[in-house]
Amino acid sequence: MPTDSFTHTGAIELAEGETPAIRFNRIVKRFGDHTVLDGLDFTVRKGDRVTLIGPSGSGKTTILRLVMTLEESQDGYILIDDKPLTHIEKDGKRVALKDKHRSQMRKRIGMVFQQFNLFPNMTVLENIMEAPVHVLGISKADAKRRAHELLEQVGLPDKADAHPTSLSGGQQQRVAIARCLAMDPEILLLDEVTSALDPEVVGEVLGILRKIAETTDVTMLIVTHEMQFARDVSNRVLMFDGGRIVEEGAPSDIFDNPQEQRTKDFLSAVS
Ligand SMILES: Nc1ncnc2c1ncn2[C@@H]1O[C@H](COP(=O)(O)OP(=O)(O)OP(=O)(O)O)[C@@H](O)[C@H]1O
Ligand SMILES: [Mg+2]
Repeated sequence: MPTDSFTHTGAIELAEGETPAIRFNRIVKRFGDHTVLDGLDFTVRKGDRVTLIGPSGSGKTTILRLVMTLEESQDGYILIDDKPLTHIEKDGKRVALKDKHRSQMRKRIGMVFQQFNLFPNMTVLENIMEAPVHVLGISKADAKRRAHELLEQVGLPDKADAHPTSLSGGQQQRVAIARCLAMDPEILLLDEVTSALDPEVVGEVLGILRKIAETTDVTMLIVTHEMQFARDVSNRVLMFDGGRIVEEGAPSDIFDNPQEQRTKDFLSAVS
């Protein structure tokens, strides 16, 4: 069986002909002279639910934002389904791909943020229909039908005509999840999606995400402080510190039997 070509903590065994959902290959990310990721490698299999944990500033959000093409790396390559996301290697040089290519790739990826980021001047329905109509070119009638289905799925069938400001945080986040799913992403990036919510509505948002995990094969990259959720939903946990993978394994390995002192310290601080 061929192994992943990189030897590093984030490597996985790939089956013959298997193309991973996401591959980080020697990614370098700097903000000014601060190097956040220094040659990061890891691979995510299709359908995997990978949780990234680690202390504040360890680079978790940066990793998701790089996949969403909201940040630009300074070196290395990200491959989505074995296709380059933003850069390719050509004659030994790193060459940026055109915006058209990037936007094609971006369509396959959805991100839900801590701060919902709904369009305040649009109704809930318009929020959900916007990208399918304008980015994917789906007919308004089809986009509307799908938006109603998704509102049903997130438990808000009667909020189609509401404006985001009239909704609670939990409801806004459920709309944001519906809006993301309306693009039918292959990869779903979740960045602390319950951190801005009142404790009593955290459960309803996590419940919806659990259901998505159970009923779809979308690849998920999850950053969360909800360790029980990470345990339930993910099949792999990567522990980061200083932009590096310190340890990785199945949730039961990482949460019940961490090997590295940094993982032990982090878990005792958050639990
Ligand atoms: N736009 C930016 N400009 C400058 N520095 C940044 C920027 N975004 C992130 N950083 C720095 O990059 C490092 C990693 O940040 P990142 O947000 O990825 O961490 P994180 O693991 O998501 O932390 P948290 O758990 O607090 O959300 C931090 O040192 C942060 O200060
Ligand atoms: Mg973060």
